[in-house]
Amino acid sequence: MFEKQPETLQQRVKQLATQAIQQSNPTAWFDVLYSESHGDVTQIPWAKLTPHPYLQDWLTTHNPQGEGHSALVIGCGLGDDAEALANKGFQVTAFDISPTAVNWCQQRFPDSSVNYVVADLLALPSQWHQAFDLVVESRNIQALPLSIRSTVIASVASVVTAQGTLLVITRFRETELVPEGPPWPLSNSELTQFTELGLDEVSRVLFYEPERVDIQQLRIEYQRQS
Ligand SMILES: C[S@@+](CC[C@H](N)C(=O)[O-])C[C@H]1O[C@@H](n2cnc3c(N)ncnc32)[C@H](O)[C@@H]1O
Repeated sequence: MFEKQPETLQQRVKQLATQAIQQSNPTAWFDVLYSESHGDVTQIPWAKLTPHPYLQDWLTTHNPQGEGHSALVIGCGLGDDAEALANKGFQVTAFDISPTAVNWCQQRFPDSSVNYVVADLLALPSQWHQAFDLVVESRNIQALPLSIRSTVIASVASVVTAQGTLLVITRFRETELVPEGPPWPLSNSELTQFTELGLDEVSRVLFYEPERVDIQQLRIEYQRQS
């Protein structure tokens, strides 16, 4: 039986993600996609080779002085968000489950101060527990299915130090109904889990990408209660 060939990159992503979920390994497809791209960034739908504009905006507006502070970039992709934090003086660790992506970061930024490592958000090193002053979670939770969402959210929350900051950048859905994905936007009840885990919501900015004005997106800043 021949597998139906996808016509577009979006269909290929959906096919890979569906297969991975059927095999009870919903994170397995990311490295396949990075590997299949053979270094062609146009084959990675989320890669823009620039920091996320709403992370950049937060850094410009808040102008954090990163010297002496640690930062963690979750699911770092091709590394642009991590480099933006390093440029602000943070001591940055950036991780991704895909060895191909991490290798790609190291090739792109050979002189970087960022510590790029392969790690799994669902099985984090114990020494990362509440260890980072600034944590950036951009568009990773939404890339993982709802069946593991509360585990993923707990894992993201777990790395923020006392009084540390968590920035979440994500698609948002107003309904609690299960969405079509990937990506699977986050709902209010899912976001509430961060506050239940000891993180206060400090600010919430709603935005739309110019090319996707139909999709609500959020940048939420949380701070861990001391
Ligand atoms: C949609 S991409 C977003 C990448 C990047 N954060 C961005 O905004 O451009 C999701 C990223 O999360 C990574 N990822 C998925 N599951 C992961 C996990 N369990 N642990 C670490 N990284 C994961 C993927 O390899 C991929 O690079």
